[in-house]
Amino acid sequence: MSTLNLIHNTPLIFLDKISATLSGKIYAKAEHLQPGGSVKDRAAYQIILDAYENGSLKKGQTVVEMTSGNMGAGLALVCRQFGNPFVAVMSDGNSPERRKILNAFGAEIILTKQVDGSPGMVTGGDINYAVEVAKDISHSRNAFHADQFNNPSCVKAHFNHTGPEILRDLPDADVFIASVGSGGTFVGTSKYLKSVNSGIKCIAVEPEKAAILKTGKVDDPKHIIQGTAYGLIPPHWDEKLVHDFITVCDEEVREMKKRLSSDQGLYVGYSAAANVIASEKYLNAQEKSLKIVTILCDSGYKYSD
Ligand SMILES: Cc1ncc(COP(=O)(O)O)c(C=O)c1O
Repeated sequence: MSTLNLIHNTPLIFLDKISATLSGKIYAKAEHLQPGGSVKDRAAYQIILDAYENGSLKKGQTVVEMTSGNMGAGLALVCRQFGNPFVAVMSDGNSPERRKILNAFGAEIILTKQVDGSPGMVTGGDINYAVEVAKDISHSRNAFHADQFNNPSCVKAHFNHTGPEILRDLPDADVFIASVGSGGTFVGTSKYLKSVNSGIKCIAVEPEKAAILKTGKVDDPKHIIQGTAYGLIPPHWDEKLVHDFITVCDEEVREMKKRLSSDQGLYVGYSAAANVIASEKYLNAQEKSLKIVTILCDSGYKYSD
């Protein structure tokens, strides 16, 4: 077995402690157990496999990507296995833990200044600027630009793997709930689930003041759900897949992050907590007892608090 065999096939965990007081059941895919510590390993692996297959990436060629840290960790470890150097372009608003991890995985890191965000709160403006820098570096180094926001491999990874794994482990899932960064996880997984069972409801999670997918506007681009909700509509986005939206605020996300570690024994990050609090809110608003599947996107070790 190689390191790459550790990507995909994460366990689906029944959140028994969190579900105890609810009418339905919440199940969560333990993406924080992927080798790079997040759901993004799936897309990173698919991007590199597809790029080799379609000839856009050669042995030894440098790979460049703008990342909030998680795609960078995935690409760094995958690229190293394939023998490609990797350059991560990252807003310096992302947590220092993320830089440490990228460093450990052997990435070259280029930090970009924040445009309108603040430390720990990376905005769409910060991301757009980092993408432009990543594009320039790709040109000047004749590198392959992974381009997660536009690369269809990100959706394919979840259509081919995350979705099938969910229905293999929970064939009678009623609802899928996930937050949206590039949209690869939500769109790819929802497309697969609906292709098998058109009755499954797919719900997107957004910060309440940056709910652009729901409302078309952003009141405040700053929120703690790093890696998601950049205040822009991602090119992968497909609103036909969405049954509804649930918005969450920073305080309830922080609280759920604590509960997940202290009650459920799962030390996960903010987007994972956002997904679980959104699942709880959804169940509380339903009369029927439903089975919800959501995503524990990354590890709590990636954050300062
Ligand atoms: C912590 C975290 N959660 C959620 C996501 C969202 O994943 P996707 O880009 O597939 O929408 C990301 C993406 O980088 C992330 O880093």
